[in-house]
Amino acid sequence: MASDIIEKLNWRYATKKFDSTRKLSEEKIQILKDAFNLTATSYGLQPLKMVVIQNEDLQQKLVAASMEQQQVAQASHVLVLCIEASLTSSYIKNHFNRVEDIRNTPREILDPFEENLISSFSSKEQEDISLWMAKQAYIAMGNLLTVCAYEEIDSCPMEGFVPAQYDEILGLTEKRLQSVLVLPVGYRAEDDMFSELKKVRRGTEEVIIEM
Ligand SMILES: Cc1cc2nc3c(=O)[nH]c(=O)nc-3n(C[C@H](O)[C@H](O)[C@H](O)COP(=O)(O)O)c2cc1C
Repeated sequence: MASDIIEKLNWRYATKKFDSTRKLSEEKIQILKDAFNLTATSYGLQPLKMVVIQNEDLQQKLVAASMEQQQVAQASHVLVLCIEASLTSSYIKNHFNRVEDIRNTPREILDPFEENLISSFSSKEQEDISLWMAKQAYIAMGNLLTVCAYEEIDSCPMEGFVPAQYDEILGLTEKRLQSVLVLPVGYRAEDDMFSELKKVRRGTEEVIIEM
């Protein structure tokens, strides 16, 4: 018998048509905000922010920047996962100050880690740091997809959009952010034909290697 979570992962699908009359409750949105913030990230640095949009005019504007994909207009809310424009040493210092505050970890333990991270990031190219941050955004996306399935929230993971246009429409550059992934969330339309389609996956035996 399939476990509940496998049943729910089979229930979820990349929703192509949302029921625009059905809105997610504040409680459901709060769950998604908390799940985003609880995402594991490398070194715990969380170089991410999530924009939560519930604004029909704004959502309509995003359609042209999303290869005309209507999900962003029809969904109850649109989540935009963003990375920081850069990772400064003061950002890293803030992280270690938070660890000190929350866990009372002595500075003699934190300082070597902090210095190590600052020196390691300062020797990297900006492009590599951005790529590393984007990887963290994909972890958040995966986490959100599973939480959505668990909560019976429909969603559509999206890479099919123009980040520079999103950044402009949403004023992200001023906030020193860059959009990397989009996740419209809400409830599937009854006539979304994709909800009836069988899952297409390689066989488990083909993708798993046991040693
Ligand atoms: C990173 C990522 C980007 C995707 N971008 C889009 C997109 O722009 N538009 C879309 O309709 N589906 C998009 N998809 C959905 C995939 O096509 C879909 O997840 C895949 O075909 C498997 O189908 P399922 O999710 O319905 O099981 C994306 C999925 C992922 C994980």
